[in-house]
Amino acid sequence: MKLDINGQEHEVSDENPHRVLLWVLRDELGLAGTRFSCGAGICGACTVHVDGVVTRACISPISLLAGKRIRTVEGLSRPGPDGKPRLHPVQRAFLQVQAPQCGWCMSGQMMTAAALLEKNPSPSPEQVVEAMSHNYCRCGTYPRIKKAVLAAASQLAEETEP
Ligand code: FES
Ligand code: FES
Repeated sequence: MKLDINGQEHEVSDENPHRVLLWVLRDELGLAGTRFSCGAGICGACTVHVDGVVTRACISPISLLAGKRIRTVEGLSRPGPDGKPRLHPVQRAFLQVQAPQCGWCMSGQMMTAAALLEKNPSPSPEQVVEAMSHNYCRCGTYPRIKKAVLAAASQLAEETEP
């Protein structure tokens, strides 16, 4: 079967269609930015986008994903003004704010943040907290995550100003 991941088509075996996306990404395609933590759809470490919607890769069988657009953290960057890939504003803001501690939860955090800003480019602090509340960080970096998401929203606003 074919999976559309970060705009590229990947042929993957459909011998076991119950295999979950997380292991296909990490073990078969080498896209190890998507993390494994709880494995039960709870913590958010494995968050990707499927047709723009935040999705837990650890509980998503590949049989449900044919024909859908999957985006992982490796696909978040986008062309800058010079046409070269440039980190997504969320990635830049997480770096600027130095949000990570151990870093394990961060790709999932950034995927959730990017999905939020696509739907709501200027969220209030309360909306950020609510949107990010299903992604857990065992290092407790929540204040920095909130700061980074708000900083990313400001960067996005600057970039889209005429
Ligand atoms: S590893 Fe998927 S939600 Fe925790
Ligand atoms: S930075 Fe360590 S789990 Fe979030």
